[in-house]
Amino acid sequence: MSFLDEITPLKEAALQALQAADTLSKLDDVRVQYLGTNGQFTGLLKQMGALAKEERPAAGKAINLAKAELTQTLDRRREELELAAAAPQRATDFTAPGRRRPLGKQHPLTQVTEDIVRSFRKIGFAVADGPEIESERYCFDALNTPADHPARDTQDTFFLDTADRPLLRTHTSSVQIRVMEQSPPPIRIIVPGRVYRRDTADATHNPTFHQIEGLYVDRNVTMADLKGTVEFVFKELLGKEVKLRFRPHYFSYTEPSLEIDFSSPLVRKMGKEWLEIAGCGMVHPTVFENVGYDPEEWSGWAFGFGIERIAMIRYGISDIRLFYENDLRFLNRF
Ligand code: DAH
Repeated sequence: MSFLDEITPLKEAALQALQAADTLSKLDDVRVQYLGTNGQFTGLLKQMGALAKEERPAAGKAINLAKAELTQTLDRRREELELAAAAPQRATDFTAPGRRRPLGKQHPLTQVTEDIVRSFRKIGFAVADGPEIESERYCFDALNTPADHPARDTQDTFFLDTADRPLLRTHTSSVQIRVMEQSPPPIRIIVPGRVYRRDTADATHNPTFHQIEGLYVDRNVTMADLKGTVEFVFKELLGKEVKLRFRPHYFSYTEPSLEIDFSSPLVRKMGKEWLEIAGCGMVHPTVFENVGYDPEEWSGWAFGFGIERIAMIRYGISDIRLFYENDLRFLNRF
């Protein structure tokens, strides 16, 4: 039998064996048997050297063609077997009842935050943010709160053990400075964000909570704008019956400074007439100087309030800790 005559029967045998292999490991055995280094097909190739010179091109071509066909079949078989191995053992029963996938919801604090943001967006405020790990400069110094100021009481602040960014921000007011430092007036922003204080958790305190800061800077900005804006937003959030009261207060970064009290049927339901809800005031000239704004040219106001407070009033929640416990019986009610 001539060399060329051996190729086809060997190929046919190999193809049959490949087809017959019904597991991946058997398929691999067949591969080794025919195409491995010591395989029968490889053996055939090695015999080429013994052929007469003029026979070699035809033999080489025949062997290569056969080998290509075998490799192709091998690959296809392997794919088939892999697919079969991955397929489910039982057929899908399309009449079986569906499996319910529970849908998540937004946390009540997120819902309230988004409502507040939506109200402010209506009147042209953009959302800004800043880091929770802050330096003393942004959290205190540039806000006209020097090192010996009582508002910097170390009791209230978490300090970190690193050199350059040493604290967790105690309020979102730090972002006022960051925004003004980076952009020239006019400014119209709100800043929702998480803040940290060294408070022991109880029904109305938690070491982390959330605030919304607001800052408006332009020429000839007045306190009347501030009152109108705050009133608009609180009425949107908590109903038309809302009443606001502004009381003189002190903050180092505003002058004059005010505290906003709030009254509504919801507050009366909680057994109170007025509830303290926000701090605000006209931006202190020193703060403008600290960020390079000319206080003779620009004026502005700022405010800050706690988001949990608003959510508690809105939903009649009496313990702030409920927001952080991730108890589904609580969360599912919103
Ligand atoms: N930063 C104050 C706080 O955490 C709230 C506040 C008061 C923010 C007056 C202001 C402001 O922007 O003008 O209690």
